[in-house]
Amino acid sequence: MEGNIPQKIQILIDTLNEQETWKTEELLSLLKELNVQESDIAHFQIYNHEKEFSYGRNKIYANSKFRIYLMSWDYGDATAIHDHGSTDWGAVQFFGEMEHRYYSYNKELLKMVQKDTIKTGMTVPVQGSLIHMMANCQKESVCTLHIYGMNNGNCEEDKAIVFQPEKGQMVETTGTAYLDMNDDEILSSQGLTALSKTDYQDYMHLITPFYNR
Ligand SMILES: [Fe+2]
Repeated sequence: MEGNIPQKIQILIDTLNEQETWKTEELLSLLKELNVQESDIAHFQIYNHEKEFSYGRNKIYANSKFRIYLMSWDYGDATAIHDHGSTDWGAVQFFGEMEHRYYSYNKELLKMVQKDTIKTGMTVPVQGSLIHMMANCQKESVCTLHIYGMNNGNCEEDKAIVFQPEKGQMVETTGTAYLDMNDDEILSSQGLTALSKTDYQDYMHLITPFYNR
């Protein structure tokens, strides 16, 4: 589902197209200046999405340099733990409060390294090596604006790694990070060493509302 491009998003697209390469800090300044409000992008929201998906994912715009999505989160919606492929620069702007976890993956060991509740209006920087997950543990629905860019012009062919501790595996996808994703989203898979007990409990607490639906 795509809709007409709102004015502020059109300015964002035009500005991003003016420069050949971007840095995350430059994107963060641009977003601050644009001050996009929820009302600007509300018609891209996909709440009450199909049950098989763990969040609503709507592509607003994509070309070979960057992609813009609006993600919609009902109560209990969450991403799997995932990286961002070869993304060189990017950001997520939050229009509501969400749980957010950073992880590290080194020598086959996945570890939680930071635990936050992101407040409305905050923007989180993104690059390829970033491993994170997001979950809506609030009763109210939330949407988030995602921008991912690549400086080599291969943005449309990017892939992501999704970690599935509850299934004991990690998989490669075309960029989606749904929990319990369908086999047709998975390009390849391999085993994953178990998370520590504390990290696993924290993760399961965040994703159980989705699995209990
Ligand atoms: Fe992400």
